[in-house]
Amino acid sequence: MYTSQTASSMSVAPYPIENRLQIQDLLALSQNKQNEGSDVVSGLKQTPKSLPPKYFYDDRGSQLFEQICELPEYYLTRTETAILQECASEIASITGACEIVELGSGSSTKTRILLDAYHNLGHPLRYLPIDVSAGILETSARKLLLDYPSISVRGLVSTYELALQQLPPAQLKSRMICFIGSTLGNLTPKECDRFFAHIINALQPGEYFLLGIDLQKPKHLLEAAYNDSQGVTAQFNLNMLDHLNWRFKGNFDPNQFEHQAVYNESQSQIEIYLLCKKAQTVRLRALDLTVEFETDETILTEISRKFDLNAMRRELGARGLVPVQAWTDPNRWFGLLLCQMGFPSEDGRSPNSILGAD
Ligand code: AVI
Repeated sequence: MYTSQTASSMSVAPYPIENRLQIQDLLALSQNKQNEGSDVVSGLKQTPKSLPPKYFYDDRGSQLFEQICELPEYYLTRTETAILQECASEIASITGACEIVELGSGSSTKTRILLDAYHNLGHPLRYLPIDVSAGILETSARKLLLDYPSISVRGLVSTYELALQQLPPAQLKSRMICFIGSTLGNLTPKECDRFFAHIINALQPGEYFLLGIDLQKPKHLLEAAYNDSQGVTAQFNLNMLDHLNWRFKGNFDPNQFEHQAVYNESQSQIEIYLLCKKAQTVRLRALDLTVEFETDETILTEISRKFDLNAMRRELGARGLVPVQAWTDPNRWFGLLLCQMGFPSEDGRSPNSILGAD
């Protein structure tokens, strides 16, 4: 639903791609190989067992996630995309020219809606995608550079935390950090606190934060979204075991485990488990780890928290990220929240609201 010609359909002689692309691998520079897998060891040694959701995303896991986003039961991606299509030009006119920093950019599909809106308003296009997968980051950056002749892309292969600590100086007059797709829901409350602290440190007063969150809704809709009828989410969950086998020389047999996803109403979160069908011993040689499983024992592989939009507005406002505008869909299933980093108050204690919102 574009109001004028999209950047991708223009016939402008582009600057060569190599002049507009820069990719920096922060992980290669910083990774402490000695600690690799320590989170797997601690998760599998504790009771109840758990594994970090980051191990979903090897190449096959990333492809399976792309498939999940297309599933009829998985309303999240569709709904957020529809909201973005409605509000992207409003976002672009509120922020004015600004660099778009995207955390967990993946294939950058939804970002194109924002880029088109900035382009249509005549704003320069500068995009900083951040992703842990170097392959996906570079492939999607190159596609964007082909489709948007005037864009410049500075990609960071990095975790969110590391990238937020090392963002290159802004080249446009403002910046918007985007964290869409409800990935915030995969963080525990404690991880969320740390994450917001990093966002606040990374933003200058007056800069923006765009957050996409999945909202609370009836249990049957949520459980259907994470127990799809084609079994893609089950494959995505079980693939974590193949990934661990490959990465840490393990002997998990995925056929001995079963996918489970349940909505915990008191915590407002989907909980995704791998259920061990019969007692067994698993060995991960590279981690020098032997793990005993009992029949019906579970491993928690992910939480997916579902939020209340107004509570989130208040929470962000209290942290100095002043809510400017919020958008949702007609069912109120998904929310997008645009916040602006406040200016420190005169007493220097907490940031002030800029627009007086909330
Ligand atoms: C990436 N994240 C927002 C997804 C979610 O819905 O929490 C991950 C996912 N897990 C199973 N299906 C999708």
